[in-house]
Amino acid sequence: MSTSESFKGFEIDKQGRAYGHPIATSDEELVRVGPGTKGGELLRRYWQPFALAEEATSKPKHVKILSENLILFRDGDGEAGLLYPRCMHRGTDLIYGKVEQQGIRCCYHGWLFGVQGHCLEIPTEKNEKLRSNIRQPWYPVREEFGLLFTYMGPPDREPLFPTFSIAENLGPSETVTAFRSDSGPNGPHPKIAASSDYNWWQMYDNWMDPFHVCVLHFSINGPQFSPNLGIIPEVKFVQTNDGVISIQKRRIPNGPVQQRISQVIMPNMNCTAGVTDEDLGPAGISWTLPLDDTSYVLFGLTRIDRDNPPKRPAIPMLEDHWGPDHGKPFSEWSLEDHQVWQTDYVAQKGQGDISLHSEEHLMAGDKGTALSRRMFRQLAERVAEGEDPFGAGANEPYRVEILAGNALLDPETGECIAGYASRT
Ligand code: FES
Ligand SMILES: [Fe+2]
Repeated sequence: MSTSESFKGFEIDKQGRAYGHPIATSDEELVRVGPGTKGGELLRRYWQPFALAEEATSKPKHVKILSENLILFRDGDGEAGLLYPRCMHRGTDLIYGKVEQQGIRCCYHGWLFGVQGHCLEIPTEKNEKLRSNIRQPWYPVREEFGLLFTYMGPPDREPLFPTFSIAENLGPSETVTAFRSDSGPNGPHPKIAASSDYNWWQMYDNWMDPFHVCVLHFSINGPQFSPNLGIIPEVKFVQTNDGVISIQKRRIPNGPVQQRISQVIMPNMNCTAGVTDEDLGPAGISWTLPLDDTSYVLFGLTRIDRDNPPKRPAIPMLEDHWGPDHGKPFSEWSLEDHQVWQTDYVAQKGQGDISLHSEEHLMAGDKGTALSRRMFRQLAERVAEGEDPFGAGANEPYRVEILAGNALLDPETGECIAGYASRT
């Protein structure tokens, strides 16, 4: 009797052996972010944060966004510029340029470019007409809430800059502050994602994955977050107009029901509430920004009330609370250290530089991930067909609304006792 069968042209051992295992593939529509790729073109239809405002200075800096290498600088007038790095004259890298009052001057023959790429001066060329007709490739920059945003899509489709519910009706003591991932939490260690070295979807999947919290962050090593988060929740995934939410309810013995709502907003935003019992405020918002196909960085906004600070440290995951106490920075952990104390980083990096989706076996608990991916693919298809994705039509006002947050509910009536749900 045969012990094998054919699957997609490969002989598979029915005994489950690895011999003849099919060649694995990634979902290209999700993972590729460069110009002309389906996912990349969708991401380019929205304003994307790519740096903290203070990162733009008179010292030019290389930045990478969606697989494009660019130069960031701030001119003497205070305007941030984002230019193609190879000087249009003969290709010298503008990283060696001198920043002046009105732009950046290439070191080689001194062409001066403004923040919108206009060629403002060619020291050795007297023909003004020639000069005024040329332009170094550039992208627009908006400075909002301490973040620098750019729009890298087709110029005639540039959307209005969105408004954010997180910034509405601010009280006199409230502010919205910006962070990038190396100054904010991502998993159980503040240092893990200065720029993470794997495909951005491995992080983005995680935002809609409430069940890994009970395993990776609880049962595998003991609690990495609030112990209550170790209780396996009842979860409902709901598709919204702009993304997906998961409503998680945990029945605390002899106590209230802890409700935690997490949210992803297409194509790459998420709102994830705090991970301590005391944090009953609304979630902040962050963007998982792909630098290229195998790295990403997080940028985000948090609302802070100076007079009523959140009942948690700004970075709750302090080093001495997390992981082996051997005093090594996370970047210096050995394989053994990671085998002792597993984090989101190893779980996600462990999926490879780019995950192999053909090998996955999604279950009911992965429904949030599946819904997010489906919505992203549908929007990418829409863009490929020449249509506008939601919130990105010409002159279409777009308000980004946060639904995520933590709350406590009465176990009998289900009514909100405290927390963010009481405000919605
Ligand atoms: S290469 Fe830049 S000015 Fe000549
Ligand atoms: Fe996690």
